[in-house]
Parts: sequence; C-alpha cells; structure tokens
Amino acid sequence: MPENITRDIQVLIVGSLLPSLQQAVEARYNATRYWELKDPRAWLAANGASVRAVVTTGAWGASTELLNKLPNLEGIFSFGVGYDTIAVDLARDRGIVVTNTPNVLDDCVADTALALILDSLRRFSESERYVRAGKWRDARFPLASKVGGKKLGIVGLGNIGQAIAQRAQAFGMQIGYHNRKPKPECAYQYYADLDAMLQACDVIVLAVPGGKATDGLIDARRLALLGKNGHLINIARGSVVDQPALISALRNGVIAGAGLDVFDAEPDVPQSLLALDNVVLFPHLGSGTHETRQAMGDLVWDNLQGWFVNGRQVVTPVA
Ligand code: 8YV
Repeated sequence: MPENITRDIQVLIVGSLLPSLQQAVEARYNATRYWELKDPRAWLAANGASVRAVVTTGAWGASTELLNKLPNLEGIFSFGVGYDTIAVDLARDRGIVVTNTPNVLDDCVADTALALILDSLRRFSESERYVRAGKWRDARFPLASKVGGKKLGIVGLGNIGQAIAQRAQAFGMQIGYHNRKPKPECAYQYYADLDAMLQACDVIVLAVPGGKATDGLIDARRLALLGKNGHLINIARGSVVDQPALISALRNGVIAGAGLDVFDAEPDVPQSLLALDNVVLFPHLGSGTHETRQAMGDLVWDNLQGWFVNGRQVVTPVA
C-alpha cells in the first residue's frame, strides 16, 4: 500500500490536539486547522463538501451546525471518552461513524476521583494553603474526616466507576452504586433509587456520561439528601450538577464539601466557588498524564487509520 494513500483525504481538525496526534494527522492527511481559519464560514462554503473526516476532542466537540456544512462526512474521530459535545444522533442518522477513546483513561480518571475524595474529606489542599499562609504558627489545623469506613455511592458504575470502586475499597470504604440496571457481576450494594443512595452515603462520586439524560441530575433537593456531613465528587461533566445550587449548598453547610474536576463553562470557574474553602478545584485534569494522553492519541490515530487505510475497521466506535 503506498505511503501517501491518505494524503488527498480532507480532514478537518476542530481544535488543537495532543501535538503528536496533530503532527501525525497533518503529515499523512490533507488536514485543515478549523480553529485557525480567519473566515470559517467561507471556508466551509467552499470546502465543506470535500471534508471526509473530523478529528476533535471532548472539549471541542462536533456540533449539528458544523455537521450540516459537511455533506460528505464519513467519520468523527474524537479524543476523549465523553461525547456529549458531539451530535451523535445526527451522525448516526447520516451513517457517519463516531469514535471515542474509552478504557485507556480509566485508571487516571479513577486516580483523580480518589485524590478528590481524600482531599475533600481530609482537607489536604486547604491545609496546604494554611501552611503557605503562615497560619500554622498561630494555631493547629482543624481535624478532618476519616476516609476508611465511610460509605461511597458511585453514580454510574461503568469502567471508570468500577476503577474508582476498586481503589476506594482498598482505602476501606464501603461501596454502593446507582445505575439504571444492576450489574450482577459486581458485588457492591445496588441502589435502584438515587435518592436512597444519597441519603445512605457519606461520599457521592459522579461517573456518568454528560448530556441530556444526566443534565442537572444533582440539584438542590438531592444535595439536601446528601446532607451536612456529605461530600460530592464530580469527575464526570459540570452539567450533571446544578452548579449554582452546589455553590449555595457548600456556602450554607447543606453539604460538608466537594471535589470537582469539571464545571459549567470550563475554564471559567465562578468567583463564588473560588472563594470557598470547603471545595477542592481541579482544572479538568482527570486523564491528564503523558502516558494516558498518548494512549488516547494512539487510539484516535488507530481509529482514523482503521477507517481510511484498513477498510473501515475502527477500533472503538461509539455504541
Ligand atoms: C479529556 C475527558 O480531557 O475523556 C473525556 O471525556 O473529559 C477528558 O479525558 C477531554 O475529553 C479532552 O478534551
């Protein structure tokens, strides 16, 4: 097979990618950087019909509006497991393949969830700020909550949820989960009713996909069910939580604390959240290690090549 078999295939890269992935796509395909176009509308009018692939990320997505300008699109190849920003239903109707990067990031995202659990209960980040501010000389740092023995409720026991459960068990936590259906192969306590799990648990971790089905799942009423000793951890999507309700619950002691890797309108974190000490804030770094990001990039590349070079054999299509 000649080396340059893909060179004439027009690929639209929606936003900047992992450099090694971007280099590979640009070296082997006729790639256009959408985010650098001076007049994207004019470019799409002139070239939209020749675009056969979109390469994107969970953050950049691929909107209905964009897909409507690409009548001959064959595939959307996304970097990230979540695809709530991609118009998947429209893609399905048009027979456009969509791929994501599941499995390879489970460990790092689960590590992040555990870091947030430990930090929220033990107040590690707050204590670090305390030392840096020179307050240790004046008084001892207040006591925190023990992790072992606490009851953890996982909302969404998929691959990431299960990786979180394994780790939390090693820390001596008791594990429950809420899914639409029980997973008989998992020995953890199943809660058909999310409200019941919120009432029973000390810590709740959100590990569900974003999108319409989970939009605002955790609202003011449910935060009240978690209660004044409860901690909420979100490594899923900001949309799963009513963010203003969460801020008010943290401020008024409706819940004890929170650990957040995801927000509404990232990367903007409201001042009202920054001002609170009982919340740990991470900049959406769940999958952010060299090893995992490379594995994600490799998977995007394998999917792209699978489609165009290996006879439409993608590795990880979105179901
Ligand atoms: C990525 C993520 O950072 O995989 C996901 O769904 O949220 C993260 O791993 C993100 O998708 C990249 O934009």
